[in-house]
Amino acid sequence: MMNAATDTLGRPLRDLRISVTDRCNFRCPYCMPAEVFGENYTFLPRAEILTFEEIVRLTRLFVGLGVRKARITGGEPLLRRELQALIRRLAAIDGVEDLTLTTNGYLLPRAVGGLREAGLHRITVSLDSLDEDVFKLLNGRGYQVAQVLEGIRAAEAAGFAPLKINAVVQRGVNDHTVVDLARHFHGTGHIVRFIEYMDVGNRNGWRLDQVVPAAEIVQRIHEEMPVAAVAPNYPGEVARRFRYLDGSGEIGVIASVTQPFCGDCTRARLSTDGKVYTCLFAGTGVDLRGPLRSGASDGELLATVTEIWEGREDRYSELRTAETAEMPSFSKVEMYQIGG
Ligand code: GTP
Ligand code: 5AD
Ligand code: SF4
Ligand code: SF4
Repeated sequence: MMNAATDTLGRPLRDLRISVTDRCNFRCPYCMPAEVFGENYTFLPRAEILTFEEIVRLTRLFVGLGVRKARITGGEPLLRRELQALIRRLAAIDGVEDLTLTTNGYLLPRAVGGLREAGLHRITVSLDSLDEDVFKLLNGRGYQVAQVLEGIRAAEAAGFAPLKINAVVQRGVNDHTVVDLARHFHGTGHIVRFIEYMDVGNRNGWRLDQVVPAAEIVQRIHEEMPVAAVAPNYPGEVARRFRYLDGSGEIGVIASVTQPFCGDCTRARLSTDGKVYTCLFAGTGVDLRGPLRSGASDGELLATVTEIWEGREDRYSELRTAETAEMPSFSKVEMYQIGG
């Protein structure tokens, strides 16, 4: 391999999160509120979206700089046409040791067989609540929980078990359904990860008082199904792990607000339109699509990405204060553009 890149805080580049579409079939109020993303909202035109060739070429270069884990995100990645073909090509890249996908699960029943066959390693399904009314509100389209559970079953049947199930927790919205969600997956082998609601983007009107601290989430579950903390699987793991004392599996919490993990952050993000973001909360990304399309050589692209990573200083969650997070004028990239 080529030279591994390290940033100004000594953090290596290990993970690449690749957004393959800015579209989504859901309208989660915390990501793509339906009032903003209505029927007439214009998403990126096809010409502005990276092609599979471009994504594969960039991924190879990132692998050359140290990336070992690639995650496909959106929007909703299963809306990207022929996604299987991309997965097949990414899975074939020497050095991609972990190839995963984060989806809302709705389209899994018909897509999952193809994903498996193409060589995808793992799947994470977002599911914020099992309560029908809460879920309808949270997907913004009135969809039912059953379809996502069907997607989870289909993923199991296709050989993807155990899955990770992501639930963003918002006080007063779905926090009363957290224990039910844990109970539903207790003993199934799937790992539910409860995520503190983050101030991503500028459109969700985030407020600190909507965050349920991870410690509180763990405590609520612990009272019904006792758990104990477990060491991380690898340094820099985003989720903190807890195992059930009865031996029937584990849960995780992602405490980006109350216990930030920037010190170990090894993630770069590639947006649908080909910009590199070195933080989930970055205001701007560096465009690679322009150079790609105007004939830049691999060496030139590599030099650009190296320079971006070597200059990286991001640690937004560690520096965040209630004031900066609630300040509407501080412009950040949106979740649906970089997939979390
Ligand atoms: P695993 O490889 O399965 O551990 O996946 P992951 O937890 O890295 O990825 P996933 O897409 O499931 O993300 C889970 C949650 O963590 C989402 O809400 C992401 O937005 C959030 N997240 C992932 N990486 C970062 C990060 O670097 N910083 C912050 N603040 N949040 C992150
Ligand atoms: N805070 C925390 N997690 C979020 N996600 C989307 N928006 C937010 C937010 N504001 C989650 C999605 C998905 C993952 C990629 O990020 O639900 O599970
Ligand atoms: Fe779609 Fe995920 Fe955003 Fe919800 S959070 S609108 S499922 S991209
Ligand atoms: Fe990494 Fe930025 Fe998240 Fe900190 S806030 S962990 S630097 S992506």
